[in-house]
Amino acid sequence: MSDGFLSIENVAMYFGGLRALDDVSFEVERGAVLGLIGPNGSGKTTLMNVVSGVLKPTYGNVRFGGKRIADVPTYAVCRLGIARTFQVVKPFANLSVRENVAVGAMYGRNGGSRSARASFDHAQELLEIVGLARVADRFASELTVPDRKRLEVAKALALDPEVLLLDEVMAGLNATEVDEALELLRTINRRGTTLIVVEHLMKAIVSISTAIVVLAEGKKIAEGAPAEVLASPRVIEAYLGARYVKRQRQREAGA
Ligand SMILES: Nc1ncnc2c1ncn2[C@@H]1O[C@H](COP(=O)(O)OP(=O)(O)O)[C@@H](O)[C@H]1O
Ligand SMILES: [Mg+2]
Repeated sequence: MSDGFLSIENVAMYFGGLRALDDVSFEVERGAVLGLIGPNGSGKTTLMNVVSGVLKPTYGNVRFGGKRIADVPTYAVCRLGIARTFQVVKPFANLSVRENVAVGAMYGRNGGSRSARASFDHAQELLEIVGLARVADRFASELTVPDRKRLEVAKALALDPEVLLLDEVMAGLNATEVDEALELLRTINRRGTTLIVVEHLMKAIVSISTAIVVLAEGKKIAEGAPAEVLASPRVIEAYLGARYVKRQRQREAGA
């Protein structure tokens, strides 16, 4: 049963004649880790943009805490409690790592009630959680790729979100770094933040998600528990092509 926490309702997003999203509906339960997967160009980032209020959907609604996201100005969506990372990371290059995070702490959901001093203290706490305390005084522009991803997560967390949208934060990381990133996401989820995770790495998605939604060409083609969803012929077909599925069936029939 849905608890009405976050609802994506018949969302369509057209870019000219292109249907980047086509009648997509699903519920995200409070405390969940929702894995959002699908081939390149299937609409994952577009959906993140709609849920975070960056794009107004052509049709449909996103409802969070009884409010329609499309009715809320983009800058105010994070005050409602939804924050996101960007697939292409965008730190303030000439601010220190700590300052980058403190800015978020000043302007996020609880920012109004937070002094500059408290914002820097909160930033320090978050840098410790994401493993960046050691480089807190460096310029963001000096960070390695994995550290930039950690910074992107810390900046989003500084907004005190109830829901955090993560768009391919593990892209470009090696196996050890992916394991560390997964551990970090588990920690964040345990602290009470609901996560929507877009990721190409199936192993990572399966190990962290409580539920998975699969997009293909802008449509939702499957949804449910990770193991079930990945065993679905429709999902395998979307990823590996119809020929693969046919061959697999012939092999099974012949065995
Ligand atoms: N701002 C835009 N203008 C026009 N087309 C876009 C825009 N953003 C995304 N698209 C198109 O929408 C489709 C879905 O893209 P995207 O959501 O980025 O997919 P994914 O993140 O799953 O790879 C693609 O065909 C892409 O080219
Ligand atoms: Mg994308």
